[in-house]
Amino acid sequence: MTMPRQPEPELMDDAAEADAYADADFCEVNQAFVDRLVELAETHGVPPGARAVDLGTGPGDIPCRLAARCPGWRITGVDASEAMIRLARRNPPNEAGDTPSPRFIVADAKSTGLPADSFDVVCSNSILHHVSDAAALWAEVRRLAKRGGLVFFRDLARPDSREAAHRIVDAYAADESELLREEYYRSLLSSYTPAEVRRQLEAAGLGSLEVVMATDRHLDVFGRAG
Ligand SMILES: C[S@@+](CC[C@H](N)C(=O)[O-])C[C@H]1O[C@@H](n2cnc3c(N)ncnc32)[C@H](O)[C@@H]1O
Repeated sequence: MTMPRQPEPELMDDAAEADAYADADFCEVNQAFVDRLVELAETHGVPPGARAVDLGTGPGDIPCRLAARCPGWRITGVDASEAMIRLARRNPPNEAGDTPSPRFIVADAKSTGLPADSFDVVCSNSILHHVSDAAALWAEVRRLAKRGGLVFFRDLARPDSREAAHRIVDAYAADESELLREEYYRSLLSSYTPAEVRRQLEAAGLGSLEVVMATDRHLDVFGRAG
């Protein structure tokens, strides 16, 4: 039987928690996310001057890497945590090509207030497991994406048991602080299984998106909206 989901708090709005997250070294995972997104953008014909939105952007490392990599893209990072957006706005300005630096806004990813049908790319790393009202999140993704726009979400996938979650923490976060290890464990328990995500997407009218296990602990959602 699947272990039931145990939701963790939605926002990382405590300043100490935001600082600890920003200080952790996510270079490799963030770069892997950007590499996969760029690959998908190429295969899905995303235009050179694309507008992209990153939901649950945290300290904004992913939009900054993306801006350095994708000349001409206009990138918006969204987070409902003011502490995170304060950190995101401290990133050095982008100096690559003619890509403007990302802009960062405080907003709920389930209801951003950004214009409908306006993004060629809607992406997110690690927001889904924070959100209990996944239907509202996917509805907003559908609203924001242009018809045929690229959607790419990556997140943890819930393991079968607490023991399996402990094994993942030991295997991949052995050298992290106790705070981060605990957060990682709680995040694993709070995440969704691929089958749950498929059901969410079907219900949101996003059934054309694919859900695949990208690693032993991550799932990817990708494809065209609409
Ligand atoms: C695990 S962090 C990931 C940050 C970033 N995407 C990264 O990969 O480094 C999750 C972020 O999602 C944000 N978040 C959670 N629920 C949200 C919501 N409903 N709207 C906007 N941001 C949200 C949290 O505040 C936190 O900054």
